[in-house]
Amino acid sequence: MPAKFSIVRGNIALQEIDVIVTAANHALAGGAGVDGAVHKAAGPELLAECRRIAGCPTGGAVVTGAYDLAAKFVVHAVGPVWDGGTRNEDELLADCYRNALRLAAGKGARSIAFPAISTGTYGFPFERAASIALRALVEEVLKQPTVEEVRLVCFGAAALAMMERVAAREGISIGQPAGTLPRNPD
Ligand code: APR
Repeated sequence: MPAKFSIVRGNIALQEIDVIVTAANHALAGGAGVDGAVHKAAGPELLAECRRIAGCPTGGAVVTGAYDLAAKFVVHAVGPVWDGGTRNEDELLADCYRNALRLAAGKGARSIAFPAISTGTYGFPFERAASIALRALVEEVLKQPTVEEVRLVCFGAAALAMMERVAAREGISIGQPAGTLPRNPD
């Protein structure tokens, strides 16, 4: 069965899911935004494990334990800093989604939550990033038949609405996240 795509609004660090992807920097040094929330919820052992890894290039991803999170693993994906689109940012962003999904599937993950990588501190325009993210994930998930759910976690109402609009434009049908009841029609 093809993987289900879901889009939710919330804090990615609180998702109950096999793998949480965080928006990291190439030093894996922790930070604000998604990375801050993930490190805070996972506890200090996550940073200790990150310090034992020799960083990660832009467009790449590495996997660690999840410690106090309700997940089995954390994938640290390093998105590009937006520089007007002149430095291969689109392809680097697609690479980090593909690499993160591949790594998670390699760990046996059936469900994976992604933030909107590079759209905060790194300044990538949200709509463009959402389109790149969804296309890369649709492409990669076809190669990872054991993955059952790809969940996009948006932080605010505007981000959620935009992600849903872009998914509709890309022809991606969106289901409910696993383990949740359908929303009331009101
Ligand atoms: N859950 C889900 N989404 C979040 C959360 C959260 N807890 N916090 C922020 N976001 C949203 C932001 O609104 C933005 O749309 O995630 C998106 C990515 O924002 P950042 O976390 O700033 O990630 P990024 O732009 O990739 O910058 C990465 O910031 O914190 C540092 O260590 C990190 O240096 C790295 C850089």
